[in-house]
Amino acid sequence: LEKFEHILTSSPAPGVALITLNRPKALNALCSPLIVELNKALKVAEEDDAVGAVVVTGSEKAFAAGADIKEMKDKTYDEVFRTNFIESWHRLYTFRKPTIAAISGFALGGGCEIAMMCDLLLASPSAKFGQPEINLGVIPGAGGTQRLTRLVGRSRAMELILTGKTFNAEQAEQWGVVSRVVREGSVVDEAVKVGEEIASKGRLATMAAKEAVNAAYELPLSEGLRLERKLFHSLFATADQKEGMSAFVEKRKPKFAHL
Ligand code: CAA
Repeated sequence: LEKFEHILTSSPAPGVALITLNRPKALNALCSPLIVELNKALKVAEEDDAVGAVVVTGSEKAFAAGADIKEMKDKTYDEVFRTNFIESWHRLYTFRKPTIAAISGFALGGGCEIAMMCDLLLASPSAKFGQPEINLGVIPGAGGTQRLTRLVGRSRAMELILTGKTFNAEQAEQWGVVSRVVREGSVVDEAVKVGEEIASKGRLATMAAKEAVNAAYELPLSEGLRLERKLFHSLFATADQKEGMSAFVEKRKPKFAHL
């Protein structure tokens, strides 16, 4: 395993890669070197056939308190335009295996946005979400205005983004931002459990499912349905489909081919 400075990587369960954001003194503020490391770890996980799901987490106190304000403070328009600042964060969204965010504490600004790039979000009761960029004289820049709006609806998103006020775990669950709030202190374990279960399924099927569900946010319905059907058809070319359906008929557990 590669040594990183701002993140930790581990394999807590079969098929699961755990990426822990690890800048505790800065509440996991997402500086550029951290994003470079995150993207490297994702590349490794994507190429590792043993990995079926990735969990992204932070600390008890902070999933991540946003982009690094100290790093951004003196940036000029020239620089952010030329370097396409924040564009590289998108790598997490284009990662092809299922991703799970395990959120405790602050998930603010870019932290909330990184969480929303994941496919499935679990929160501990302490989780605190928000897009406070308006208080810094800017707006969300890593998808917040788009993803939060799709998740919670326009009026609520407007209120949150225009005032910068935070929302808690219970609200996040009610509004469908997270799939579940779990017992305090258990969010990483729960996320790893979900990851392990996903990793136990047919690998290609889980990747296709992820692609199809995310397409629901990208495509008009007719195109989304077309993509779904194409992906569905394509899975009939896999050994896992033969195994999964044979196992059902033979009343036994399927043994999916994990390379
Ligand atoms: N960037 C850089 N440093 C940060 C940071 C951030 N986003 N958030 C916290 N820190 C640092 C603080 O500066 C502080 O460092 P020092 O000890 O060197 O002063 C340390 O982390 C601890 O933070 P606090 O003392 O502020 O801790 P707190 O418990 O009193 O408050 C908090 C916690 C409410 C999360 C507060 O830190 C805060 O408001 N942070 C900023 C949140 C924010 O505005 N995020 C949006 C960033 S912009 C963005 O993300 C753009 C985008 O869309 C991509």
